[in-house]
Amino acid sequence: MALEVRSCRDDDELVRAHYAIGQYFGAPIDEARMERVHQLLELDRLHAAFDGGEIVGGAGAFTYDLTVPGGSLPCAGVTLVGVYPTHRRRGVLRAMMDAQLADVHERAEPIAALWASEETIYGRFGYGLSSWSGEATIPRVWSAFAQPLERRGQARFVSAEEAAAAFPPVWDALRRERPGVISRTEAWWRLRQLRIPDEEQANPRRFVALDLDGSTQAYAIYRTSLSFDAGVSTSALDVQEAVGATPQATAEIWRFLLDVDWMETITARLLPLDHPLFLLLATPRRTRFRVGDALWTRLVDVGAALSGRQYAGDGAVVLDVRDAVCPWNEGRWRLEGGEAVRTDAEPDLALDVSSLGSAYLGAVSFDQLLAAGRVEELRDGAVRRADALFGWRPLPWCPEIF
Ligand SMILES: CC(C)(COP(=O)(O)OP(=O)(O)OC[C@H]1O[C@@H](n2cnc3c(N)ncnc32)[C@H](O)[C@@H]1OP(=O)(O)O)[C@@H](O)C(=O)NCCC(=O)NCCS
Repeated sequence: MALEVRSCRDDDELVRAHYAIGQYFGAPIDEARMERVHQLLELDRLHAAFDGGEIVGGAGAFTYDLTVPGGSLPCAGVTLVGVYPTHRRRGVLRAMMDAQLADVHERAEPIAALWASEETIYGRFGYGLSSWSGEATIPRVWSAFAQPLERRGQARFVSAEEAAAAFPPVWDALRRERPGVISRTEAWWRLRQLRIPDEEQANPRRFVALDLDGSTQAYAIYRTSLSFDAGVSTSALDVQEAVGATPQATAEIWRFLLDVDWMETITARLLPLDHPLFLLLATPRRTRFRVGDALWTRLVDVGAALSGRQYAGDGAVVLDVRDAVCPWNEGRWRLEGGEAVRTDAEPDLALDVSSLGSAYLGAVSFDQLLAAGRVEELRDGAVRRADALFGWRPLPWCPEIF
């Protein structure tokens, strides 16, 4: 197989590279979809793998900023990764990952992030599991709060146009607070959160703004599905996104969602482990919370990435980093005073860049990595020192799969 990987140059290549992931779900993209892809993804950010003249794989990256502990950094949001089933396990993905990471490095984006379809794929390319999230299904009869909530705001339904103005400031408040949140353009909102897809026309998503003290401080996007069993409603409310800018607004938007009549259950996905809902509820056990891996993070430029976040404590740590895919990261880094610089000093910890990616957003501790054999402690107490630096609250939250 004569394999070549390069960026797409025209719409024909885009359609074929996009159809790599389309082989696993969905139809070939039509014109309307292509128009949407164009508005969200620059053509040259979609890499295609060619076997002769045939495109047999695709790998894309969105351009956005990702909130990191205490800051925000340019990030490649890796997406649309697929290899045609006719060409699997012949190194097509590896060739695309190599080309994409080189491109991300050239663009001076210090980090890349993705949602993995399978946990076994991306560690070898330096991505580390860096956050957890889960799904809660709350029976409405068990949705009481533990403490009385004084409701001060008012919920109202809004159109997609109104939501386009009212929701982004609330999202941006979340961005300032939580690692793992991505920046959204106007087109991102319009095409991903606020567009009613064809299959939803009969029962579209609803947009709710919660106004409090003169401004929209929380919002929710949700759908309902109606069903009855022996005359008793078994209907479900599916929360697509619920965000509040303040604790009061968050509590009130959740109270709204939990109180919609006729619903038997309220389901929300991608919730972080420290979401306020769990302590708002009187009976969190009833949510039957199910946890899985969420965002995976790759430090493409270790120095810039480490210097681009803040740290909880003082102190210093010397890391000996292995990186087989991005060799420019290899070697010893001294982290002190929020800056990472090259050093010849004796290392405290030795680890693969994927493990550093796991620790980066503050959700996975070096202590956990040590217990799992993912980091070597070369000096006593180094793991504890590193955890004092890297640990961060609140935990990362990426409320959206991209
Ligand atoms: C996952 C996928 C892209 C892999 O493509 P591929 O071209 O077959 O992968 P490669 O041949 O380049 O494999 C590179 C390495 O990853 C391993 N690998 C690839 N896919 C894997 C998987 N699903 N699970 C475990 N290991 C996998 C290979 O064994 C190989 O290992 P090695 O480096 O030790 O030799 C392809 O199977 C696919 O399109 N799957 C369905 C869509 C999908 O899941 N996309 C990812 C979206 S996040």
